[in-house]
Amino acid sequence: MLLLTSSKSRFHLILFLCLSANLLFARNPIRAKHGMVVSAEKYATKVGVNILKMGGNAVDAAVAVGFALAVTYPAAGNIGGGGFLVLYDKNKNATTLDFREKAPLKSHSKMFLDSLGNFVPELSQNGWQSSGVPGTVAGLCYALQKYGTMTLAEVIQPAIDLAENGFLLDYHSSKSINTSNKDFNKYEASKKIFTENGKELTEGRLFIQTDLANTLKLIRDNGADDFYNGSIASKIVEESDRHGGIFSLEDFSSYKVIEREPIIGSYKGYKIISMGPPSSGGICLVQALNVLENFNFTKNDWNSSNYLHKIIETCKYVYADRAEHLGDSDFVNVPVDKLISKDYAKEIFNSINENAVPSKEISSNILLKKESEETTHFSVADKFGNAVSLTYTLNSSYGNKIVVDGLGFLLNNEMDDFSSKPGEPNQYGLLGSYANSIEPQKRMLSSMTPTIILQDDKPIMIIGTPGGATIITQVMQTILNVAEFGMDIEDAVFVPRIHHQWLPDEVYYEPFGLSDDVIKNLSQKGHKFGKPRRLGLMEGISIDQSNKLFYGASDPRGTGKAMGF
Ligand code: GLY
Repeated sequence: MLLLTSSKSRFHLILFLCLSANLLFARNPIRAKHGMVVSAEKYATKVGVNILKMGGNAVDAAVAVGFALAVTYPAAGNIGGGGFLVLYDKNKNATTLDFREKAPLKSHSKMFLDSLGNFVPELSQNGWQSSGVPGTVAGLCYALQKYGTMTLAEVIQPAIDLAENGFLLDYHSSKSINTSNKDFNKYEASKKIFTENGKELTEGRLFIQTDLANTLKLIRDNGADDFYNGSIASKIVEESDRHGGIFSLEDFSSYKVIEREPIIGSYKGYKIISMGPPSSGGICLVQALNVLENFNFTKNDWNSSNYLHKIIETCKYVYADRAEHLGDSDFVNVPVDKLISKDYAKEIFNSINENAVPSKEISSNILLKKESEETTHFSVADKFGNAVSLTYTLNSSYGNKIVVDGLGFLLNNEMDDFSSKPGEPNQYGLLGSYANSIEPQKRMLSSMTPTIILQDDKPIMIIGTPGGATIITQVMQTILNVAEFGMDIEDAVFVPRIHHQWLPDEVYYEPFGLSDDVIKNLSQKGHKFGKPRRLGLMEGISIDQSNKLFYGASDPRGTGKAMGF
């Protein structure tokens, strides 16, 4: 045992402990005066900040980040997938862009069932038929044309440079790619890019993607038209035909970005702007916050069993409604007004008591399917007062792992987000209903929840995360961390979170996330727990409107970067 004999030694020990404690707890957000970009990958964040420095607005920067992530973060960054953008502009207008993938014209409700009518998950997750018609290129180009200030050539060039000249694969990027080495080896075009003659890629290697650079140059020179009506569309359909896919030229020529009214809600004076159907994100987020607004939490309630019980019970009702009612609102009637009404929330609030209600008693006739958690989110804010919250995805990590030969980009396996057989769970365990069954041209239900929070009509928080069905609960808790508990954005994205999605009837929680006392209290109320696991990868910005300062935080669960100027 160390004996501290002199008062000088004791003083040094105390000083050391204080400094260590300070270092341990000194999680400060990145601070900037003129704008902020937070994404899951450092090169892409830098691209966005450079665009802001050049005088571009948040949309210019977001589009540049979107194309850059397709090069530097191929697990989820993409031009072969789809997503959602939420914009709040300097003139106080809120809008959303839906560039979700859609089901091909030749798709049908039984396409992933075997001859006995059983769902075959391998079909909805792998191979060419697992892909929906990609929307990302249309979405990014639409956003730039309508809300940006720079040319496509200016904002896409950094992505072209990263693809053409390469970037150094760090430990995390090489490890991530190598995790799918076996799958990449199944497809010659994927093997060429994501393996070294079939072997794993080494850390520190310069990763050059010449085919992808050429595809991005075609988009730079001819716009989204090349992807949907030109040489890129023709090549995708040709490859699809060769490999048993069902894409047609008409699938591409008829693809449209849909500008939709946002889902608007409020929580104790904060205004919530989020994404509507075909994402379930905005509706479920607002519905949950409406219920939780009825409780009086104190600052010390954070992650107490009292607080978590209320969150869990609320989420059971929200996810039961999600399973039953949500789908593409252009195809099915989604009762949006009811689901986000304060009156309906009050009914749910009144059903919540001191003990856990078993999920099967809330609703029992719908099964849920699991959703991929490999999406990515980025947040951007500029000095002009514009804010962009954008989440996009290939669904699984690296989508279906199929690179379109000669074009250098990966395809999504988003068809797995449909309920292929209502009542049958998919790869990740959520149950789905008829509202989300496959129909030609329909968009599959998503959980992506890109969100912007306002106070006094000014953006004060821009937030989102990957995480499949867990996205909604992670965004919700991060908002509560700020709005209810007064955390700064760094703490808000850092602290442990939980998740409950009605079915399975169990609480997901993070390693070191809950103390034994809390678990015991919740168990006594009737809650069940799964194995601990990481939840979400938040990329958040907060804005101090009184001092015009931007704060950025990239979730330490990942390897992203917040950067401002
Ligand atoms: N593919 C995950 C989602 O759309 O939520």
